[in-house]
Amino acid sequence: MSIAHDCGIQSTSHRYFMPLAFTLVIVASASAQRPPSDTGFANRRATRLADSLLALMTLEEKLGQLTQTPAGFGQTGPTVDAGGEQMVRDGKLGSFLNLYGADVTRRMQRIAVEESRLHIPLILGFDVIHGMRTIFPVPLATAGSFDSSAAARAARIAAVEATAMGVHWTFAPMVDIARDARWGRIVEGAGEDPYLGSVMAAAQVRGFQGDNLRAPTSVLATMKHFAAYGGAEAGRDYNVVSVSERDLWNVYLPPFHAAVRAGVGAVMPSFNEINGTPSHANDWLLTDVLRKYWHFGGMVVSDWSAIMELMQHGLGDSVTVATRALHAGVDMEMSSALYRNKLATEVRAGRVPKSLVDSAVVHILRVKAALGLFDDPYRGSSTERERANILTAEHRKAAREIAREAIVLLTNRTVGGAPALPLRRDLRSLAVIGALAVDSASALGAWHGIGRKEDAVTVLDGLRRALPNVAISYAAGVPLDTVRVEGPVSTPGITEAEQLARSADAIILVLGETGDMSGEAASRTSVELPGAQLQLAQAVVRAARASNPTKVVIAVLMNGRPLAVQWLADSTSALVESWHLGVEHGNALADILLGDYAPSGKLPVSVPRVTGQLPIYYNHKNTGRPPSEREKWNSKYIDAPWTPLFPFGHGLSYTTFGYTNLRLSRSTLRGSDSVTLTVDLTNTGKRAGTEVAQLYLRDDAASVTRPVRELRGFHRVTLQPGQSETVSFRLGPDDFAFYDRDMRRVVEPGGFTVWVGESSAATLEGHFTVTGGVTVLAPAPPRFR
Ligand code: BGC
Repeated sequence: MSIAHDCGIQSTSHRYFMPLAFTLVIVASASAQRPPSDTGFANRRATRLADSLLALMTLEEKLGQLTQTPAGFGQTGPTVDAGGEQMVRDGKLGSFLNLYGADVTRRMQRIAVEESRLHIPLILGFDVIHGMRTIFPVPLATAGSFDSSAAARAARIAAVEATAMGVHWTFAPMVDIARDARWGRIVEGAGEDPYLGSVMAAAQVRGFQGDNLRAPTSVLATMKHFAAYGGAEAGRDYNVVSVSERDLWNVYLPPFHAAVRAGVGAVMPSFNEINGTPSHANDWLLTDVLRKYWHFGGMVVSDWSAIMELMQHGLGDSVTVATRALHAGVDMEMSSALYRNKLATEVRAGRVPKSLVDSAVVHILRVKAALGLFDDPYRGSSTERERANILTAEHRKAAREIAREAIVLLTNRTVGGAPALPLRRDLRSLAVIGALAVDSASALGAWHGIGRKEDAVTVLDGLRRALPNVAISYAAGVPLDTVRVEGPVSTPGITEAEQLARSADAIILVLGETGDMSGEAASRTSVELPGAQLQLAQAVVRAARASNPTKVVIAVLMNGRPLAVQWLADSTSALVESWHLGVEHGNALADILLGDYAPSGKLPVSVPRVTGQLPIYYNHKNTGRPPSEREKWNSKYIDAPWTPLFPFGHGLSYTTFGYTNLRLSRSTLRGSDSVTLTVDLTNTGKRAGTEVAQLYLRDDAASVTRPVRELRGFHRVTLQPGQSETVSFRLGPDDFAFYDRDMRRVVEPGGFTVWVGESSAATLEGHFTVTGGVTVLAPAPPRFR
């Protein structure tokens, strides 16, 4: 008989619980104080279950539910030591992170549900960021597909694999907007744009959680890091964030709100402070905005030891910070254990209200119920399911398809009368140069779940498979361990690379960053090519051109952040951004380089020319002195252009596209109305291809300054040569709105400009006017405290 059954709740799924020696009491407890939820976690069944259990729990058991501890790592995978097991048995632990594998998770769960007093199941979390074992492109790369179904598909497969291994919960998606590429965690998110970020956030939540969270293949998703973590000063990880309230709402919060609307079940606050308040102590953020304003009904888990770190932030001693975090709205503490160790005394002394602990417990129990853990705590995980579901041919196929969509063709010059790419198949010889070309670990990218480097197809492997009849030679040039070394390196490897460059028919230079050069705690002061790679590239290009001025030299980038590669852009025959594409990196890249798939990826970030341009983003403000090359006294630099090397949204294909005939369904409208824009998109080249048609909007004059343009829609369209399609975009009040001086969300009357085209530099423009008065879509949200 299950707890659910004892509570009078019908369930058709497995019965596993030991018979309970007592009757659960249905109590009408704190639920009245809890905010309403629109995310489905506060449904009647889950609430009754949570409330009933709450009535039976000791204070220690409650604090145990609020505690998440990391599993240890043994030779064969994660382990739990005897102390951890005993805590589960004693009801002093509600969750593990980093515990996966059907055997070990089932064993721990069995202890929780059979040997602990109240039989409450554990919830097991793991960072499944871009794949469990089948590793997909890093999230930044997938964002560049501008294909939400690709993002959802990768997340779905990751969920299928993770749940087979007993994982219930992922700490993804990361939805932090990042405008400064020095910040290593830019790789984990969707880049610089709130609109694209919101679309990708919602898609990943849907992919992870599926249609039904109770399904054994669904994982609970976590939106993180709430909030503005990407705004770290100087791009230095964990650094302070100073941001205006208006920018917070306009730029940083929209992807979080999108994830909440998509039903995300968990939230992780950010390590950083915002304007003086660390997020883990920020009741405005975690309660006023998240719970009360957005009606979030799931649970809030701290970041790793972040409650303890509130002491380093300078908020006080361990008791003070534990109390602050609980007050603010952090339900579960990851890694550190101040809740468990410090709060009991405080509650008993009446210094911390019991109701605060209770409502955190209820949030967690409701999520456990929503996952179906009270009906089947194992959620069907098994070694058989692991074998059948992990790294399948079908999953690899999906990884290759998604990776192809993510690759961005940045330049493609005409060399000897033909575009450098796709490569000619009748080459006799090809030289692949650069240590990253054989670095399978880097293909996986940062945060790669349980991905193994031996699963990954390297660039060299991919090309050898695709071109069995071409003599492919390889030279590292500069060894991988000097990729990190700054400054010129003299190495015999460069001489070897030059020799290959002279003798081969064409050259592929693979350059960039190793997988661990981006991600957490991997900020860089420079976003130029690290180490001696530029020196290598220059030597190779020089040698190749000396042997044959029309020799094709393709540069392929592998990296987790945009890199300032002006020289490569100017000097190579073609430049390809491949990011870190996961297990199918080499195959997907070969598909693109050989033209089996025409590139369709676009940049989800602006690419700077030099590091000093950072932060750089397309949706900037105009200033009173907009940059112009015509005269001196305006907002630019004296030593570099102010424009990016490549704009947000840029990406070429092997065909060309033309945009014509922009029409608007109306030229004047009220603030509450919508307008439809249509444009004719034509494949003007000689082969089929897919274009991401993008729509940008500007509010020409408003009571507060507005960005020069903002993405407000996109469509992926596949066209045969000569084929045209009419693409339409509908814009409504939400697209026109912004936060005014009183922080109301409004549409103001006046002129708007729209651009439709291939990137944020699109030039085909149209205009419309909003007439009438100010339309208030929403009163001011809770004001920042
Ligand atoms: C990261 C989180 C991650 C957590 C658990 C932290 O260091 O900031 O993003 O989910 O560790 O691994």
